[in-house]
Amino acid sequence: MQSFETRSTPRLVAGAGALAKLPDCVQGVGGTHVLLVTDAGLIEAGHAGHAIKFLEDAGVKVTCYDHAHVNPSESDIEACREFAAGVSVDCIVGFGGGSSMDTAKGCNFLLSNGGRMSDYKGYGLAKEAMLPFIAVPTTAGTGSECQSYAVVSRDGSHEKIACGDPKALARVALLDPELTVSQPLKVASLTALDALSHALEAAVCTRKNPVSAIYAKEGFKRIASGIEMVLQDAALLEHRASMQIGAAFAGMAIENSMLGAAHAAANPLTAKFGAVHGHAVALMLPEVMRWNREERSATAVYLELAGMIQEPLVEWVEQVIGLAKLPDLAGCGVTKEAIPDLAADAATQWTGQFNPRPLTEEDFAGLYGRVLG
Ligand SMILES: [Fe+2]
Repeated sequence: MQSFETRSTPRLVAGAGALAKLPDCVQGVGGTHVLLVTDAGLIEAGHAGHAIKFLEDAGVKVTCYDHAHVNPSESDIEACREFAAGVSVDCIVGFGGGSSMDTAKGCNFLLSNGGRMSDYKGYGLAKEAMLPFIAVPTTAGTGSECQSYAVVSRDGSHEKIACGDPKALARVALLDPELTVSQPLKVASLTALDALSHALEAAVCTRKNPVSAIYAKEGFKRIASGIEMVLQDAALLEHRASMQIGAAFAGMAIENSMLGAAHAAANPLTAKFGAVHGHAVALMLPEVMRWNREERSATAVYLELAGMIQEPLVEWVEQVIGLAKLPDLAGCGVTKEAIPDLAADAATQWTGQFNPRPLTEEDFAGLYGRVLG
């Protein structure tokens, strides 16, 4: 038998209107004074206000930090820590998309353990206990609510550093699909494509195991049932709910396994050309899947997933991505001349090491070349 170890996952509290259960979740982990980490857009949309009212009505004190930024940097996390250090909170709630989650998780590292985020690059480097963390995602994509990693950018270089620790994992992930309804179409589309790529990459990566496989497949099934409606701006609440649970399951699949070459090839596109993460991954995913089809273990999984949607998988993925009407690689500013640099960077990405069919720097160059056409 294959030997494997699983990691903890948060308790899930899911369903339309589940936000009303936030006070119970907070009090269940002993919280009396919450640091709510969110962004200005969610304050404006009124969602954060609802969360605050539920908490305050239940007698929970709330201090709100609404300065979470897209792709938070080390200094963004430090700013949140400095704010939080002035108030004595005993629970952190991350409320928003991946950026709010990463800011909240990152703040928890610094508040409880000191130092800078780069001190925690890797896994399990925090010595002191952290505050209980509750994740309330308002997008259906990153799966960050189910992962023990805070992903932040280094100041200056924009290099993404992943800081993981079992203590940073959310105690509860509260999944209320009503919170995802007001997302702009572009955000919903790009996060949906990210979630799809998480399920598909985790399903075949070399770290896959019986537990991650269940989450990847169940995540894929739910994402597949809602993603076309989301991308066509025609999603009903039930499609949003499928996407949200699918994205969380895909997050659990990653937490228990890894990702692959589509993420490795996407990160340099974000760092060098500013492509949004979900867009960058979507550009690379079909060609990575074609590459992986040459590896027997990946083919077997792809066939199983194709059976769930009753269509050839790679063609279906391409068609779904097409619904998002995204600029192609050239439209992102990528030229043939940029490929050697991109390939050199992609070959050093950690996630690429777990792709089912290995890629050298040359292989990545070939991959970018085929996508560029
Ligand atoms: Fe991703």
